[in-house]
Amino acid sequence: MDYFNVDNGLLMAERVAVAEAAEAYGTPLYLYSRATIERHWQAFTDAMAGRDHLICYAVKANSNLAVLNLMARLGSGFDIVSGGELARVIAAGGDPAKVVFSGVGKTEAEMEQALKAGIHCFNLESEPELDRLQQVAARLGMVAPVSLRINPDIDANSHPYISTGLKQNKFGIPTSQALPVYRRAAAMTHIQVLGMDCHIGSQLTESRPFVEALERLLVLMDTLADEGIELEHLDLGGGLGVSYGQETPPLPTEYVQALLPTLGLRKLKLILEPGRAIMANAGILVTKVEYLKQGEDRDFAIVDAAMNDLLRPSLYNAWQEIVPVKASSAVARPYDVVGPVCETGDFLGKNRELAIAAGDYLAVRGAGAYGFTMSSNYNSRPRAAEVMVDGDRMHLIREREQPQQLWRGEHCLP
Ligand code: LLP
Repeated sequence: MDYFNVDNGLLMAERVAVAEAAEAYGTPLYLYSRATIERHWQAFTDAMAGRDHLICYAVKANSNLAVLNLMARLGSGFDIVSGGELARVIAAGGDPAKVVFSGVGKTEAEMEQALKAGIHCFNLESEPELDRLQQVAARLGMVAPVSLRINPDIDANSHPYISTGLKQNKFGIPTSQALPVYRRAAAMTHIQVLGMDCHIGSQLTESRPFVEALERLLVLMDTLADEGIELEHLDLGGGLGVSYGQETPPLPTEYVQALLPTLGLRKLKLILEPGRAIMANAGILVTKVEYLKQGEDRDFAIVDAAMNDLLRPSLYNAWQEIVPVKASSAVARPYDVVGPVCETGDFLGKNRELAIAAGDYLAVRGAGAYGFTMSSNYNSRPRAAEVMVDGDRMHLIREREQPQQLWRGEHCLP
């Protein structure tokens, strides 16, 4: 459930008319709803009530400082994948002691930064990464808390680009190779073995693959316990999907309920790393129709947002709902909604029935996750402004980029 609703023909973000935000801040504009973010985060905590747990919001979904700061105020932990994300979390007031660090390619500098910050756990993805962390921790005279990311070889039934738990994917350590790595880790002088993790993919619309992954991880955990290697936590990663229109993913409570029978009475702390499920439907991308263009084969609505602002349609052929911000008397007809970037793949939606005229605003829904964070300056397009609505108030949380910022740090030859 989100707080973007149509009221008297006007698309509202909480109690603010989206058209008003577009007039005030210009377009393209990312617009978020604070109440929606908080509601979605709360749904995860409520689902875990009574269990030892930590929600580590996946920063990559949306890393604006205001978003991270809201999470921090709720008491959230964070799942990061780079030193840059760690710096953002700290700048936003997040607690490093609630941070887990995922990703296959952590550099020495990033390991040192995270050790000094005192993060909760390194989610390691390979044996060489373990060896490197032991060296870095030894040099600093510190002990690094670790979890090993297991690749359970499970099909997430999601888009191939965002499925991560199959043996052909680069992620994690295969279940069959995990035991010796755990044994080595447990014997290392500057490593403390804390947990086990996995992340099998993103935008999963059923609980079954998560349960299967959990089953495989628990088998491995039991074997380790028999050898005297007791783990404190189990981190199931993120991946719970959202509805962009037609999908019917489980709610956070349904998802957690599906896991509980398999977990049984184990006294394990459960960590989850949701990103999309919290942020996707807490944000929209508002764009203005610049031109309506009639082609021989189809009609185009040329808008001022493009693939550099929202890459998901171009990259994954992702379908996101596109709605007018105000009801219009124009005749509805099908349009391909495209941006000004010089690529045929630059589209936000195809064959969308819309009643629009040039100058109207449109909203692309489900844009709060993997929207702004995947944006770029391709075609030297300054990045969009970001605004957070809170009740009837609007807060500018990222200024629109100015053209001269595009070449900051570039130098001509002498
Ligand atoms: N934990 C790890 C280790 C991850 O790799 C990810 C996402 C998450 C948590 C959060 O997953 P979520 O709950 O958001 O599904 N750009 C793609 C999604 C890529 C997800 C990458 N990893 C998209 O726009 O669909």
